[in-house]
Amino acid sequence: MSTFKAPKGTYDLTPPDSATFLAVREALAAPLRIAGYGYIETPGFENVELFARGVGESTDIVTKEMYTLTTKGGDELALRPEGTASVLRATLEAGLHKAGNLPVKLWYSGSYYRYERPQKGRYRHFSQIGAEAIGTEDPALDAELILLADQAYRSLGLRDFRILLNSLGDSECRPAYRTALQDFLRGLDLDEETRRRIDINPLRVLDDKRPDVQKQLVDAPLLRDHLCDACRAYHAEVRALLTAQGVAFEDDAKLVRGLDYYTRTTFEFVHDGLGSQSAVGGGGRYDGLSEMIGGPALPSVGWALGVDRTVLALEAEGVTLDIPPATSVYAVPLGEQARTVLFGVVAELRRAGVATDLAYGGRSVKAAMKGAHRSGARFTLVAGERDLAEGVVQLKDMESGAQEPVALAAVTDTLRSRLG
Ligand code: HAM
Repeated sequence: MSTFKAPKGTYDLTPPDSATFLAVREALAAPLRIAGYGYIETPGFENVELFARGVGESTDIVTKEMYTLTTKGGDELALRPEGTASVLRATLEAGLHKAGNLPVKLWYSGSYYRYERPQKGRYRHFSQIGAEAIGTEDPALDAELILLADQAYRSLGLRDFRILLNSLGDSECRPAYRTALQDFLRGLDLDEETRRRIDINPLRVLDDKRPDVQKQLVDAPLLRDHLCDACRAYHAEVRALLTAQGVAFEDDAKLVRGLDYYTRTTFEFVHDGLGSQSAVGGGGRYDGLSEMIGGPALPSVGWALGVDRTVLALEAEGVTLDIPPATSVYAVPLGEQARTVLFGVVAELRRAGVATDLAYGGRSVKAAMKGAHRSGARFTLVAGERDLAEGVVQLKDMESGAQEPVALAAVTDTLRSRLG
């Protein structure tokens, strides 16, 4: 072992498990690729102010969890704790919203960083697949995103997850509700920090997981009873569209989420096999975020799905993904001359798109064949001096055990047709 270890709250992805991780990423993004979402990539760090303004000065993410740094040039940066603020910043910077084709639909995949207390499912470095639909207010867009996430999880074989749905209202109805909630909360028996939260971010108190707090919140006023007509109609439409598509959801009037930019539709995908870190994905509408970071009014909606937790959810449900072996053909040279010839054969097979590996290091036939088995290859190519003198290699089918000589010039075509 090296003297160094992965930093606290992080882990390495190594083969063979990393193949599952890649497959999960692919599967979560697949529905987006066929629904009009274009790929976007933004830097791993941004100006710290972007998150302070976007995610919210009073959120845990900004006050406690950001990795911030001052560069030698004096810039105040933060490793990105989430993707939405960055994607919107990049959209505005590139003027994508001005191309006249709204919404701007984007998807992304990457690493995010939060200085949280590590536990199972909660890491300081984690991976998300995200989607943002920018610039359009349409309940069908909210429904589309929820549907696509549902589809993504189902395509992986996940079943034990639930969709929690809520509306957080808008600038029309939320302020009055906020005041009503503050009045209610001030009458409760709460600790100092929670009392402070009543002034700054009262909705977050609803999200408090502690049983003694939850008990006192039973009669708390709920936003769903204070929505303005427009928000109520919008929410009803989202619900109706989901129901029409057979997507089951649960109304959760206390679902607030940990980011301040949300308006109207908010949702979370929770998996029941994960313990306390049960949210495998979440998102919602953020109609005011663009203006908060200096842009024009661009009502938008999006989500991010946690790749790490999705992998844990698969484990919890006992789902194993059917991942084909990375190598289809494994070449075993017997001797120097054979190595040179097979090196060329392998290169040609790869150029033809056949996943091929070679036994390196002049290992014994026994050791090389072990390598062939371990690689999961369907076929091996074995060649010694006598074979080469005859212009052939021995092609072995690892499933049936059958072996036959194949002319060197015909190897690629033969394997291509056998592998389909
Ligand atoms: P979020 O709920 O903070 O939303 O994160 C989305 C998902 O990322 C979570 O449901 C969880 O699966 C995963 N995740 C978050 N923190 C961690 C962690 N410390 N360790 C492991 N996984 C984690 C957002 O990030 C919003 N930007 C989503 C969004 C997009 N809203 C609108 N558009």
